[in-house]
Amino acid sequence: MECKLISRYSPLLVLFLASLITAQTVSDVLQPNYDDPSNSLKIFDIAKPLTLGCNITKAGDYELSWTKDGENVSEIESLKDRYTILQKERKFIINRALDSDAGTYTCSVRALNASRTFNVIGNVLVKFESTEIGKTNMVEGEPLTLHCVAYGTNPKITWIIGNTTLSTGTEHVQLEEDERGVENARLTISSVTLADYTDYTCQAENNATSITGKPAQVTMTVRIRGKYAALYVFLGIIAEVVVLCGIILICERRRNKTEVEESDSDNTPDQLKNGHNGNASELRQRKS
Ligand SMILES: *[C@@H]1O[C@H](CO)[C@@H](O)[C@H](O)[C@H]1NC(C)=O
Ligand SMILES: *[C@@H]1O[C@H](CO)[C@@H](O)[C@H](O)[C@H]1NC(C)=O
Ligand SMILES: *[C@@H]1O[C@H](CO)[C@@H](O)[C@H](O)[C@H]1NC(C)=O
Ligand SMILES: *[C@@H]1O[C@H](CO)[C@@H](O)[C@H](O)[C@H]1NC(C)=O
Ligand SMILES: *[C@@H]1O[C@H](CO)[C@@H](O)[C@H](O)[C@H]1NC(C)=O
Repeated sequence: MECKLISRYSPLLVLFLASLITAQTVSDVLQPNYDDPSNSLKIFDIAKPLTLGCNITKAGDYELSWTKDGENVSEIESLKDRYTILQKERKFIINRALDSDAGTYTCSVRALNASRTFNVIGNVLVKFESTEIGKTNMVEGEPLTLHCVAYGTNPKITWIIGNTTLSTGTEHVQLEEDERGVENARLTISSVTLADYTDYTCQAENNATSITGKPAQVTMTVRIRGKYAALYVFLGIIAEVVVLCGIILICERRRNKTEVEESDSDNTPDQLKNGHNGNASELRQRKS
């Protein structure tokens, strides 16, 4: 029974083994420069060069072809004038990679019937919308909106508020998709309280950061003042002015008084002199 089965399927078995062997030789002939070989992954950073390498181990003058999503790269409009192929070095280079350059690339040598695939993804990059930098100082009761702009391939955003991590919204904190289609990119608190005074970190991950182990992060401190804090400051200033005025008034009065007294005492020497003279003349009169 078993022998029968084996003999029936032996042609298939042979085919399977043969395909394994050809796959082996194919993978030996071309050596891609993967960042993660188990997922055929190549990672690039936005606005930096992306270099795909595909060494040919077999000696000979072979021509390497490059395709993106099944199309010859020379025929792709979005890649026009943006890439370089170094035939000798077996390299395909995009000089300044963009989000849209992510995709499935292949290197192939027709003469060897060999090709390898690259899953190319952009590393994540996050930043706050520049207009939000001024919003870090707020007054209790105002609405807070933070827009975390994430670049890269399929970024997944979580927020770290103080030391709690949010991957979905709560009653107090709403998380919404932005116009670029990135989930959780927009954080809204409709009315902030003093308890919301803390650090807000937008953290983004994707298949690239799970290889590098470094999620992208950007942090902002939101400072919140009490609703009446400004009023208290104002009242404080007024109180200060009143007290100062009072002190000045008292001082002025005191000074005026002493000036009067001083002008009184200024007169005394003359009076004394006169008095003295008076006494002297009196004495003289008495003597005579
Ligand atoms: C391809 O070949 C170059 C030069 O021989 C070598 O420096 C490089 O490490 C090779 N790359 C891979 C992925 O084998
Ligand atoms: C891709 O285009 C280049 C330039 O036009 C050409 O030399 C090469 O043979 C093409 N490769 C394939 C696989 O069609
Ligand atoms: C190339 O490989 C494919 C399968 O991978 C096979 O069907 C085809 O016959 C091969 N061509 C040559 C010329 O070896
Ligand atoms: C959260 O942070 C506060 C101070 O910022 C600290 O007192 C508290 O222990 C932290 N809680 C946790 C769970 O780490
Ligand atoms: C990321 O990885 C998951 C699981 O490994 C896979 O299903 C998904 O297609 C990958 N995404 C990209 C853009 O490569």
